[in-house]
Amino acid sequence: MVIFADADAFLDWFAALDGVFDAPPPEGDPVDLLAHGLQCADVLRARHPADLGLHLAGLVHDIGHATGDGPDHARAGADAVRPLFGDRVADLVGLHVQAKRYLAATEAYELSPASELSLGRQGAAMTRAEIEAFEARPGSADAVALRRADEAAKEVGRAVPGLATWAPRVRDYVRTR
Ligand SMILES: [Fe+2]
Ligand SMILES: [Fe+2]
Repeated sequence: MVIFADADAFLDWFAALDGVFDAPPPEGDPVDLLAHGLQCADVLRARHPADLGLHLAGLVHDIGHATGDGPDHARAGADAVRPLFGDRVADLVGLHVQAKRYLAATEAYELSPASELSLGRQGAAMTRAEIEAFEARPGSADAVALRRADEAAKEVGRAVPGLATWAPRVRDYVRTR
């Protein structure tokens, strides 16, 4: 498992996800993990300006694809970020696949082709009982917001603020959370 000693160790590791993809086509996203995280964080900042924890959860939500900890990337990512970013960010990362299954079950949710393919492997749409259990969890609404931004963060070549913009926010958050 990846362990980040401090914010700058995390930022150095995260910067190296430039050109690293979550999975080979056709299941992988069309953008690399760095671009995907930056786009997701940017979408969340536009939609929920005051919630830095949510922005940072979006930034890091898919790092479990690169930590080498097995097929459950949501759990791997949550485990990797918990010591540095704390429980809220980690729990949102851990819930983002459940949020996708929730949205697939509760609305006409438009998924990218890659996301549609992986949904079956991740457990498909939630059942009625799973929906009720998910809605009762603290943070589930924020996890849904993250998942909506996730889907809107796969545009090749989109210009968004880079990691240099997020670095001071990451340092502030991990220092003061
Ligand atoms: Fe993911
Ligand atoms: Fe994602």
